[in-house]
Amino acid sequence: MHLLSIESSCDETAAAVVDESMQVHANIIYSQSDHAAFGGVVPELASRAHMRSMVFTVREALREADVTWEDLSGIAVTQGPGLVGSLIVGVSVAKGIAMATGKPIIGVHHMEGHIFSNLIAQKIEPPFLTLLVSGGHTELIYVEELGSYKLIGRTRDDAAGEAFDKVAKLLGLLPANEFVAGGRIVSEIAQKGDPDSISFPRALVGHPDFSFSGLKTSVLNYVRGLTEEDRHSQLSDICASFQSAVVDSLVSKTVQGLLQYGKTLNAVCVAGGVAANRSLRESLRREVEEYGVPFFCPDFEYCTDNAAMIGAVGVHRFSKGLVDDITLDASPRLKLC
Ligand code: KG4
Ligand code: ZN
Repeated sequence: MHLLSIESSCDETAAAVVDESMQVHANIIYSQSDHAAFGGVVPELASRAHMRSMVFTVREALREADVTWEDLSGIAVTQGPGLVGSLIVGVSVAKGIAMATGKPIIGVHHMEGHIFSNLIAQKIEPPFLTLLVSGGHTELIYVEELGSYKLIGRTRDDAAGEAFDKVAKLLGLLPANEFVAGGRIVSEIAQKGDPDSISFPRALVGHPDFSFSGLKTSVLNYVRGLTEEDRHSQLSDICASFQSAVVDSLVSKTVQGLLQYGKTLNAVCVAGGVAANRSLRESLRREVEEYGVPFFCPDFEYCTDNAAMIGAVGVHRFSKGLVDDITLDASPRLKLC
């Protein structure tokens, strides 16, 4: 059994081919560079770029996996949440393929895709916790069963990835001619800095919810008080101290969730674009394993947005008979739980 999967919720145009055991046969990601000059994703430009690239991305995925339309059992596609114009491109292409081939279509929640990114390489039996950290979301989720989720805590303002992106922008680190994730740049610079050099605040200590906007403002105020020269010389310390504040918050609330469910948990996972952060991966592993609970994080290629994770959910839903039809609609505010 092979599923074609499509992801276009934000600024990555992606297609993949996944089989019944969630093995990935192709994982094509086209990252849009159109937004570089604007310092953030421009929705209108994103939909246009999806329009330009989607058909070629799908064709490339089928070619790399060496499958034809006839070999496919269905098409999984991100239904939401995300930018409406971007979602519409992926959903429309998927519906077109479903109509032409007569194969079923499977609508997938983008964040459920991130949860499943950890199931691509290994089998993890629920119940487990997943810390979902991306540009738009920061949530700690209790996975009771695959398909059944309970929210433990969520951000009250900025998402963790959004905080990284805003700090990269206010530090003037985003290149003008290339679209690079702010989090990646900040984390690379942070490697050379001292995480204890500046004391940035940790919000909502002891509470299950997250908050990062105060931290971002605190970095802004700190930077405003510096001369140009000091700002330059302290750059790696600022990045390291900021990153340490984000990681501390994420790790302490995950451990709090772990303690809430205790020994019933089979694992703790992290997923989403910010899961690519090495400092976060290492701290979570250290803390979680200290409680005797296994810890999992996805391969780097499955952290940021990709279609393989959407295909993995598709395989699960398909195996349960949970398929949609061509009335499927893009749903920009789709809820997971
Ligand atoms: O999951 P994703 O690709 O897209 C969304 O669904 O939002 O996540 C993108 C986010 C961006 O905010 C980006 O800055 C962040 O993930 N990110 C990182 C790293 N790589 C990407 N944040 C921290 N450290 C990284 N190494
Ligand atoms: Zn995502």
